[in-house]
Amino acid sequence: MTTMLSSNLPLPKVGRGKVRDIYAVDDDRLLLVTTDRISAFDVVMGETIPMKGAVLTQISAFWFGKLEGVVPHHMISADTDEIIAAVPALKPHRAEILGRAMLSRRTTVFPIECVIRGYLSGSAWKEYAEHGTLAGEKLPAGLVESAKLEPAIFSPATKAETGHDENITIARMREVTGREIAEELESKTRAIYALGEKLAREQGIIIADTKFEFGRTKSGEIILIDEVMTPDSSRFWPADGYQPGRPQPSFDKQPLRDWLDVERHAGRWNGEAPAPKLPAAVVEATSKRYLEAYRRLTGHDLIVSAA
Ligand SMILES: Nc1ncnc2c1ncn2[C@@H]1O[C@H](COP(=O)(O)OP(=O)(O)OP(=O)(O)O)[C@@H](O)[C@H]1O
Ligand SMILES: [Mg+2]
Repeated sequence: MTTMLSSNLPLPKVGRGKVRDIYAVDDDRLLLVTTDRISAFDVVMGETIPMKGAVLTQISAFWFGKLEGVVPHHMISADTDEIIAAVPALKPHRAEILGRAMLSRRTTVFPIECVIRGYLSGSAWKEYAEHGTLAGEKLPAGLVESAKLEPAIFSPATKAETGHDENITIARMREVTGREIAEELESKTRAIYALGEKLAREQGIIIADTKFEFGRTKSGEIILIDEVMTPDSSRFWPADGYQPGRPQPSFDKQPLRDWLDVERHAGRWNGEAPAPKLPAAVVEATSKRYLEAYRRLTGHDLIVSAA
């Protein structure tokens, strides 16, 4: 198992996000390779978090498995040997892609982040505290930070090429995708989150909010793509310490955020790139938290076989 900041595979690279490298396999398929890059406060760190890429890919694979028959999705395989059998050019690169690659159906992505919030936190809490609204819609008075929202609130955003995603109204989303597709994406988003939130809660994790992406295949099918209900695309809170009325600790990134906060307050970091060099203890603690999120959610340890 190798830890990796950036991949280099013998396929055409068609994209590079903050965390994933995306390769074309052919007209119908992509290889998504999740590296061990990590960002906090919107800055990508210089160090890798060992096992993070595999954790994110295998958590997504876990959810795609649970969603079988509920919503169509892009996963063809997240099993390294199945992927190599389908794409033999990857054979010499087995160690690099081990556990972290997902062979996926290729789509044209809808330029909308389908955000759903079951708890009032982050930018949503900020907007509510200031204006009593969420995504411009009035919410009941008297809600506290981290309060459970019933029903969950669908609050779409545009996919920004650079910088922050921008929250948009549902009316604006309808203008972008058309009314029917906007409704379809919202109802799929609600169905996926309802399933995920319930299952995760039974495992001791609150998925406070999360974000889905959808795309359209060449044959016109609308499917769930990208990563699904991972700690990177969601707020994961430990259910046992949940206490409304204050911010909740993040399941995965808290050791990193806490350390960066100390650096900032001590005047050793200005909050912008480049990030300070992370001590080994912080890297290790963060890696452990990701592995623990996987273990809690799925009920077993993440094993990526070296064979
Ligand atoms: N099945 C798919 N078809 C086409 N594009 C996809 C598919 N699945 C995922 N993608 C795209 O691959 C990219 C994943 O990369 P990554 O998550 O690193 O970057 P990002 O989402 O642009 O940035 P970030 O997640 O850091 O905000 C996204 O742009 C996503 O839309
Ligand atoms: Mg992404």
